[in-house]
Amino acid sequence: RKVAVLLGGLSAEREVSLNSGANAVQALEQAGYAVKAIDVSRDIPTLVRDLQKIGPDAVFNALHGRYGEDGCMQGILNILGLPYTHSGLLASGLAMDKPSARRLFAEHGLRVAEGKVVTREEIMVADPMRRPYVVKPLNEGSSVGVAIVRESDNARYFANSEWPYGDQVLVESYIPGREFTVAVMDGHALGVTEIHTDRTFYDYDAKYAAGGSVHTLPAQIDPELYTACQRVAIQAHQTLGCRGISRADLRFDGKDIYLLEVNTQPGMTRTSLVPEQADLAGIPFPDLCTWLVETAEC
Ligand code: DAL
Ligand code: MG
Repeated sequence: RKVAVLLGGLSAEREVSLNSGANAVQALEQAGYAVKAIDVSRDIPTLVRDLQKIGPDAVFNALHGRYGEDGCMQGILNILGLPYTHSGLLASGLAMDKPSARRLFAEHGLRVAEGKVVTREEIMVADPMRRPYVVKPLNEGSSVGVAIVRESDNARYFANSEWPYGDQVLVESYIPGREFTVAVMDGHALGVTEIHTDRTFYDYDAKYAAGGSVHTLPAQIDPELYTACQRVAIQAHQTLGCRGISRADLRFDGKDIYLLEVNTQPGMTRTSLVPEQADLAGIPFPDLCTWLVETAEC
C-alpha cells in the first residue's frame, strides 16, 4: 500500500512538522508501506500533481499549524478524494481557531479559562484583564507567540516582540497549578501525562529542546482526577468532531480542570507526548501510524 506523508509546510511549526514527518516516514516504512514524503510549500499545483501521480491509498498528514492543521489541507484532500489521517476540515478549523473552540467548549459544559479577544493596541495601552494573564495568537501551535504577562510588562512585551500573528490577540487568565495532557485515540483516552518544566511555562523550547521538560506518565494523581482528565479530553474530542487522534492540553488549579485546547495533529517527534502515551497503552509507534493510515477518511 502506498502512503504519501505531508510534512514541513508553511507555519511557524515547520521544523516540528519536518521532525514529526520524518518519524512517521520511518515508522510506516518499517510497517511495510511504500512511502513518499512531500514537503509542502506554497506551490499547491505541484502538490496536487505529485499526489495525483503517486495515487496514494492514504495521506498521512504530519503538518502542524496553519494551512496544515487548520482545515486548508483537509479541504484540498477532500476535493482530491484522498483519504487522510486525523481530523476533517471542520474539526480542524474549529480546533485551530482558539476563540471558536473556546466558545464551543463552554457551550458544552467544558471549563475554559476566562478570556477574550483584544487588539495588540489595547494591550499596549492597558492590561485587558487582571494579571497574570496569558497572551496567545488566535491560531498557532507549539506555544509560538505565547507569553505570560505577570508584572506591568504588557506594553513592553508587545513593543519588544515582532508579533507576526495578526492584530487580534487572545488573552486568558493564567491558571496556576499543574499541567496535564491526554491523547484520545479511537474515542478512548490513552493516558494522562503531567508536564513539568523549569522554564516559566511549557513553551517552545520546553517542548522540543532536550531536557526542556519532564513528562510523568502515568501522572501521579488521584484515580478520580486521572479519569476526570480523560473524560474532559474525550468530551473535547467529540465536541469538535475530531477523528483519528487528538490531544487535549489541560490545567488543574487544585480544584477544577481547565481545557486549554485540542491539538488535532499532535506532535510525533521523539520528545512528543502522543507516542509516549500510545507506548504506555501497548501501541508501538509503527502500529500507531499504521492505525492512523488504515482508518484514514476523506
Ligand atoms: N502543536 C504541536 C505539534 C503539538 O500539539 O504537539
Ligand atoms: Mg496546540
